[in-house]
Amino acid sequence: MNILVTGGAGFIGSHTLIELYKAGHTAVVVDNLANSNPESLKRVAELIGGGVTIPFHEVDVRDRAKLTQVLQQYQFDACIHFAGLKAVGESVAKPWEYYENNINGTLVLVDCMRQNGCKNIIFSSSATVYGDPAMIPITEQCPKGHCTNPYGQTKSMLEEILMDMQKADPEWNIVLLRYFNPIGAHPSGRIGEDPKGIPNNLMPYITQVAVGKRPELGVFGNDYDTHDGTGVRDYIHVVDLARGHVKALQAIGSQCGLAIYNLGTGHGYSVLDLVKAFERANNITIPYSIKARRAGDIATCYSDPAKAERELGWVAEYGVDEMCRDAWNWQKNNPEGYAK
Ligand code: NAD
Ligand code: WQD
Repeated sequence: MNILVTGGAGFIGSHTLIELYKAGHTAVVVDNLANSNPESLKRVAELIGGGVTIPFHEVDVRDRAKLTQVLQQYQFDACIHFAGLKAVGESVAKPWEYYENNINGTLVLVDCMRQNGCKNIIFSSSATVYGDPAMIPITEQCPKGHCTNPYGQTKSMLEEILMDMQKADPEWNIVLLRYFNPIGAHPSGRIGEDPKGIPNNLMPYITQVAVGKRPELGVFGNDYDTHDGTGVRDYIHVVDLARGHVKALQAIGSQCGLAIYNLGTGHGYSVLDLVKAFERANNITIPYSIKARRAGDIATCYSDPAKAERELGWVAEYGVDEMCRDAWNWQKNNPEGYAK
């Protein structure tokens, strides 16, 4: 298939491009580079090899005219829509910017798509839509919960919008992928997560401590109702997550209508479990101290990924040691991310 990949220069998008080409698909990337560096795309092409060039258009998905040009220049079988802003804390400070970028961006995208004859989309949703989950492990049957921040609201609202569109027009095939906590990097160490400024997420913070950019990790709370008091999450290797998108194309190909899948490993690790796993895998000590809880955090969140296995034949293959090894391999080889 030929796939329009929005946000393809970003963390998950860049890894997904490699898996798409490996599986025999082709892609065109649209990204406004708001949170990425085009160097990622050069490295993706190197990793794919064989002289492949992936067409890249520096376009904002809210720009109807430019997006339409791209849709008319190529023939797309489907879109994988990663483009969006994703920093939870920033979304609290800038709600308008988050609603406008994520919601308006997606509305413009799907409108341009349908006007140009493409009604197949895979959407990057998030486990955040479950709020403080009503069940653990979380199946797709779990009711959606209250999102404590505008970022999460955009994901939850966009799911509703896409579901309503599919209901009104069954020609749409829409796959909502609810990611748990993507970490790690391509095993080559050439592409990975390149956060701007102080990382919000745990793994990039750990790797920046490991590389000496930050003195210590702050652990946000050790009084949760978990085995060691720190928050438990379902960390998933970004390469496994990327492969999940390739598998989801099968659902599109078989005219799934609407389909929702959790993409996680099904295993929960606490903050301190992850710190220990990182130390063990890489033989590095991570200094940390316990801080107050972070507003909006929940105690425990991990998936039941059985539906994706049953229906897509997808299962996460990498374990936490490989996630830690690859995250560090990327960070130590690229201490300044793509900037150097
Ligand atoms: P990322 O920031 O690395 O990638 C997103 C890309 O979208 C960036 O390259 C950015 O420049 C681009 N972009 C943003 N707004 C755009 C716009 N209006 N037009 C065109 N391009 C735009 O983030 P990521 O971690 O790769 O996440 C990809 C998607 O997955 C996002 O939608 C994110 O919300 C979602 N998601 C991420 C996580 C996570 O923890 N990383 C978890 C669940 C869901
Ligand atoms: C993991 C655990 C923290 C940083 C977020 C979004 C979610 C999704 C994935 C996009 C928690 C603790 C963290 C630190 C810490 N993104 N922590 N010190 O909060 O589970 O999910 O990213 O959709 O929507 O909310 O991930 O990596 O920020 O935190 O102790 O410096 O690590 O409290 O328990 P989270 P995270």
